[in-house]
Amino acid sequence: MTAVACAVPERPVWDRAGGRVFGKVALVTGAASGIGRATVLRLAAEGATVVATDIDTQGGEETARLARDTGGRAMFIAHDVASEADWRDVIDTVIAAHGALHVLVNNAGIALAGDTFAMSHENWRRQLAVNLDGVFLGVKHGVPLMSRSGGGSVVNVSSIAGLVGDPGLAGYSASKGGVRLFSKSVALECARARNGVRVNSLHPGVIDTPIWTTNARAPSGGGTVMAGLMRLWRRAVLGVAGRAGVPLGHAGTAADVANGILYLASDESRYVTGSELVIDSGLTAA
Ligand code: NAI
Repeated sequence: MTAVACAVPERPVWDRAGGRVFGKVALVTGAASGIGRATVLRLAAEGATVVATDIDTQGGEETARLARDTGGRAMFIAHDVASEADWRDVIDTVIAAHGALHVLVNNAGIALAGDTFAMSHENWRRQLAVNLDGVFLGVKHGVPLMSRSGGGSVVNVSSIAGLVGDPGLAGYSASKGGVRLFSKSVALECARARNGVRVNSLHPGVIDTPIWTTNARAPSGGGTVMAGLMRLWRRAVLGVAGRAGVPLGHAGTAADVANGILYLASDESRYVTGSELVIDSGLTAA
């Protein structure tokens, strides 16, 4: 009897029909590192075709490669979210490559710490340019394509610093508080337009990512944090929580946040818009 070759090719992850974002095209900014990278990997593992963007070309390429290595569909585009010209180019590339956009995760961010009265106007503007202008530009250029694609979900990554004040991070708080209310207003504009696009903000607490340990990627130079921000943040955290340490006793991981982004990106959250998802171990609960 002749043996019959019946090798079944391993199904790539993206081909799983049960993927929670199967068939969707997703764009994730700040994808070279931390929460952005974890989000790209999570969305790709759940069936999305992911466009990863960042100013950090090396890290961004690495993220896309990691997603592909695990069977996902992902590509990288170099992108400064503070540049409107870059946003036009990115959206044009998404149209050319995929013809649609269903999920936009405005995640790229920087944190410039320091006393308000010592902060240079340049650093203040840079903080807002990346964290707030970047989100505005993403919505401005991404939502029309999402609307033409039949609707979708925008997830704007804010912070618990966008919910409560934070001595030493006033510029960062201003940018993240702006993201929170901008998201709600745009959500209502989209609802009024019946364009099928939902918009929500997401508020991580203390998440263990490189944002705390390196300033290498921050484009504006002086005033960016490293250990200093960690100290400021811990101090702010203690003030917010009114007790030592975060309630669950440890920092979150980028994957903890990516899981929340996945929910908001998927149709499981189809009745959720203008809302805010807090992933902070209960830090702002008290
Ligand atoms: P991260 O530093 O690991 O990643 C941020 C990414 O944004 C980097 O890859 C960086 O190259 C990119 N980026 C910076 N400026 C950019 C620009 N102009 N254009 C495009 N990309 C740019 O930090 P992490 O923690 O992953 O931060 C992601 C988001 O989460 C940020 O918006 C941050 O403010 C927010 N967040 C983080 C928290 C944490 O504890 N890690 C807490 C609350 C909010």
